[in-house]
Amino acid sequence: MAEKIICGIDIGSSKIATVCGIEAKEGGELRIIGYNQTLSRGVKKGLIVDIDQVTGVLEESVEKAERMAGHKINSAYITVGGPHISSFNSHGIVAVANPQGEIVDDDIERAIDAARAISISNTREIIDVLPRDYIVDGQPGIKNPIGMSGVRLEVDTHIITASHTNLKNINRCLNDLGINNLGYVFSGLSSAETVLTETEKELGVVLVDVGGGKIDVCIFTDGAIAYSSSIPVGAKNITNDIAVGLRISLDSAEKVKLFLGQLSSDDALAKFRKKEGEVQISQLNLPEKLDSISLKTLVDGIMKPRIEEIFKLIFDEIEKSAMGQNIPSGLVITGGGALTIGMLETGKKVIGLPIRLGIPEGVTGLVDEVLSPPFASTIGLILSGRKNIMSEEGKVKNFNKIFKDLSIEGSMGKLKDFFKQFIP
Ligand SMILES: Nc1ncnc2c1ncn2[C@@H]1O[C@H](COP(=O)(O)OP(=O)(O)OP(=O)(O)O)[C@@H](O)[C@H]1O
Ligand SMILES: [Mg+2]
Repeated sequence: MAEKIICGIDIGSSKIATVCGIEAKEGGELRIIGYNQTLSRGVKKGLIVDIDQVTGVLEESVEKAERMAGHKINSAYITVGGPHISSFNSHGIVAVANPQGEIVDDDIERAIDAARAISISNTREIIDVLPRDYIVDGQPGIKNPIGMSGVRLEVDTHIITASHTNLKNINRCLNDLGINNLGYVFSGLSSAETVLTETEKELGVVLVDVGGGKIDVCIFTDGAIAYSSSIPVGAKNITNDIAVGLRISLDSAEKVKLFLGQLSSDDALAKFRKKEGEVQISQLNLPEKLDSISLKTLVDGIMKPRIEEIFKLIFDEIEKSAMGQNIPSGLVITGGGALTIGMLETGKKVIGLPIRLGIPEGVTGLVDEVLSPPFASTIGLILSGRKNIMSEEGKVKNFNKIFKDLSIEGSMGKLKDFFKQFIP
């Protein structure tokens, strides 16, 4: 296997993150060789609202990642998310082309094409068609039908669509910088790629990526994605509440929130605990000159109601999906917002299912900073990209093999036809 660089860019509401991984010759995990996160501008709730601002931040992030990696980024996979994302499940049926032989790649492609042949509004675009299950001659539960024999092939797919305008806007920003877009991946799905285990997906699980401006939800049952959506609320709403509640600026509120988010263990909290229920924050040097805050006022009084509201919205999505009975693995929460103090505890109470923090996995190299929840989408993106390249390479190999077989059969056939002419 040749060395390959795979890059991913996550255009988030809080940050634009770029990550470069290298596929080593000897295989194994992708090795991270460069990354960057730059404060985002011009993105609201996952939507591009100012092309120039986004292009500027994108350029900065890509350049810094390039410098770190020592490689130019000419092409990248891109995340897309926000409330303009919608999804549905669709079924495709085809007759197997060669019923005497085996099911081949082409039959699968035709079945998937049949599933995606549905009319959608011309303001939307399909970004992903994900096969969930194959059915061969009425037998369901087949994950890979290649090589099986049958006459009728059916496929259940999950289709994700996005706003055409937003995709065009992202492409405008990329074109301005000369970056080739290798494909869009829904940001929730890319996070799922790196934080969920196969067992969780098999049993049934909800991936929740709490970003700054939106919350992505992906539900997996029987090992495949069954529902995806994006809620237009995020961790920035918690910052706003803190700013209003404590009468401080948004910048100060963000500092307070991040500081509390880092005090996840009791030991860390004890270090800054003053008297009963008060935490010292004078070290943050806020312009409002706040020296300490009451945890009860801030965490229980200001932050908790918003976190409860967030989980109620997630609960509504689970209800909408009608998969509530099929998710025994509960929720896996990732994205920067997952680090908010009290997030998991409050979530457990509202949802009543197991909840764990989702940390990205599956890469090596410069991983100190990137193996953290805010990078879940970006790390998942390059892992999805790698899978995509591998399956494309597999198809090319298969195609070469079929082509070789055909050319031998074809020339033999032609030879036979040639000699037939002389036989009386
Ligand atoms: N240690 C932390 N403690 C608390 N909150 C945190 C922490 N780190 C990040 N956050 C919060 O997470 C949010 C950003 O998350 P993330 O980087 O996943 O968003 P994004 O991907 O840019 O946005 P989106 O996915 O909504 O478009 C911010 O609101 C930030 O305050
Ligand atoms: Mg995000």
